[in-house]
Amino acid sequence: MHSIEPVRVSSWNEWDPLRHVIVGVATGSHVPPPEPAVNAKVPEDSDMLGIHGIRPKETIEKGNELLDNFADTLRHRGIRVDRPTPIDFSQPVQTPDFHTSSQFGCMPPRDVLLTVGSEILEATMSYRCRWFEYLCYRPLLQRFWEDDPEFRHEAAPKPRLTDRDYRKDYLADSISEEQRLEWTARKHFVTTEEEPLFDAADVLRFGRDLVVQHGFTTNLKGIEWLRRHFPDHRVHAVNFPGDPYPIHIDATFTPLRPGLILNNPKRRLPDEQRKIFERNNWEIIDAAPPAHNQPPPLCYSSVWLSMNILVLDPKTVCVEKSEVYQAEQIDRLGMEVVEVELRDAYAFGGGLHCSTADVLREGDCEDYFPVQPD
Ligand code: GLY
Repeated sequence: MHSIEPVRVSSWNEWDPLRHVIVGVATGSHVPPPEPAVNAKVPEDSDMLGIHGIRPKETIEKGNELLDNFADTLRHRGIRVDRPTPIDFSQPVQTPDFHTSSQFGCMPPRDVLLTVGSEILEATMSYRCRWFEYLCYRPLLQRFWEDDPEFRHEAAPKPRLTDRDYRKDYLADSISEEQRLEWTARKHFVTTEEEPLFDAADVLRFGRDLVVQHGFTTNLKGIEWLRRHFPDHRVHAVNFPGDPYPIHIDATFTPLRPGLILNNPKRRLPDEQRKIFERNNWEIIDAAPPAHNQPPPLCYSSVWLSMNILVLDPKTVCVEKSEVYQAEQIDRLGMEVVEVELRDAYAFGGGLHCSTADVLREGDCEDYFPVQPD
C-alpha cells in the first residue's frame, strides 16, 4: 500500500523552501450578490456590476484545469499539495444579523488561512458571502490535527457583520476614482471599527514580524486582535496610498527573499513605514509593470496580480506565464522563474500567491528586523 507521510505544519515566512501547500479549487464559484464590502471593491466600469450567481461553467472548467496543472507543477518539484473540499456556494447564509442569498468559492485559500509557525488560523473574513468559507478547509485541517500533535488549529472570533461594520458613504451609486484615492489615503476605508475584522491575505510573515495591511478587508481592531493573539510576534500595520480598492497585501508588497521586497510602484509604502525595512538593510524595489492593461473578465482583482507570485525557495519563484515583465525582473534579480499559466483562474479570487496557503516550509522563526523603529 502507498504510504503517506504524516503531515507537519510549520511556516514562518513567505520564502523558505516550500514543502507542503494547499491549492484552491474553482468548483461551484459564484459571483456573490451585492453587499456593502463587495460593492466597495467592484470598480464602476466592471463587467461584474449588476450580475451575480454561479460563474459560467466553461470558465470554472478552465479555472480548475489551470489550478490542477499548477498543483501538478508543484508536485513534480517535490512539494506536497492538498486541495479544499468545496461546499455548495449556492446556499444562502442566514445568521441572526444578516442574510446573503449565495456565497463565494474556495479558490483563494490565502484569504482565509494564516499559517504562523505550527498554527493555522482561520481569519474572521469581512464579506458576508465568505462567512462559511472556512468549512471548505475543515476536512484538511482536521486531518492535519490528527497527524501532527504540535499543530494548533485556531479560528478568530466570527464577526457579526451587521450594517454597522460598513461605512455608508461607500454605498453611493457613484464614487469617483479621485474620491476613492482621497479616502484611502486618509484611511477612510469601507470597514468601520465596529469589531475585529481581518482577511488572512492582508498579512505577510517575516519570521518574528508580521506586516498587516490596514484597508477594506482588515481594520485596526483586526490588527490589534492579531497582536494579542501572537504575543511573541511584532505586528506592524501598513497602508498603501494610491490603491483605490485596498484589499489583500499580495498584489502590492511582495517579499522575494531575506532583504528584498517588490512594491507596487502605484501603491508605494509611505516613508514613515519604510523605516523598519531601511534600518535593517532591506531593499524595497518597484515591481515591473503588468503585461496586461485589463484584468480578465469577471475579475475583482487588478492587473497587479502580475506581482502575486509564489516563492518556492529564496532562489526560485513561480510567476504567471503571461507576466513577461515580472518574469524578466525576477530573472535579472538572479532567481529561477517557474512559469505557471493561471490568468484564466484569476477571476476566482487571485493569482499564484492568493490561490495557495502554506502548510510546511523549512526553517525556523528568525528575527529579520532586530533594529525596530522608535
Ligand atoms: N489587491 C488586489 C489587487 O490589486 O487586485
